[in-house]
Amino acid sequence: MTTNLKIETERRRSGRPPENLKNELRLELPSNSINEGIARSIVSVFVSQLDPTFEELADIKCAVSEAVTNCIVHGYRDTHGMIYITIKILDERTVRIEIRDRGCGIEDIKTAMQPLYTTDSEGERSGMGFTVMESFTDRLSVVSSPGRGTKITMIKVLGDGRRQSIK
Ligand SMILES: Nc1ncnc2c1ncn2[C@@H]1O[C@H](COP(=O)(O)OP(=O)(O)OP(=O)(O)O)[C@@H](O)[C@H]1O
Ligand SMILES: [Mg+2]
Repeated sequence: MTTNLKIETERRRSGRPPENLKNELRLELPSNSINEGIARSIVSVFVSQLDPTFEELADIKCAVSEAVTNCIVHGYRDTHGMIYITIKILDERTVRIEIRDRGCGIEDIKTAMQPLYTTDSEGERSGMGFTVMESFTDRLSVVSSPGRGTKITMIKVLGDGRRQSIK
């Protein structure tokens, strides 16, 4: 365990948030398709406190939309379940978004992340969701376990084009 991680863990135990955590939102939604748009809008409102540019906000909304849609259409394909979203504002310009399901999971993450790869057999999907998430954010990590679910973590660092930063 690195020193920073140790300090953070100790702060968590003490009930105090880590110093660089400016704000945090946790959200749980059932995997109804209407909740894709609702999750996207809530994330957008929350991130707006950092005064992102129009383009930065559009990128974040699009990445969230892809991740939540994947939970609904792939993770919980023939079933229903909860989608867990956590957004953290880590400093005045860093947004960390975690989107998790407890669905079927992904057997081969590397293959699933290839552009144009899709398991959709009905011709409705283009296999570009992960590529969109990757190109619209600064960091994307995917952790998945077959039969247990998938966790997507995206980090977006906002630039200098914003009007002001949060206090
Ligand atoms: N949450 C998830 N649970 C299970 N499988 C997933 C999940 N997310 C993605 N996958 C798998 O990874 C593949 C690639 O996902 P990606 O989002 O890139 O493309 P897609 O969803 O098939 O198409 P598109 O996003 O363009 O509509 C999916 O076809 C699916 O097999
Ligand atoms: Mg997709």
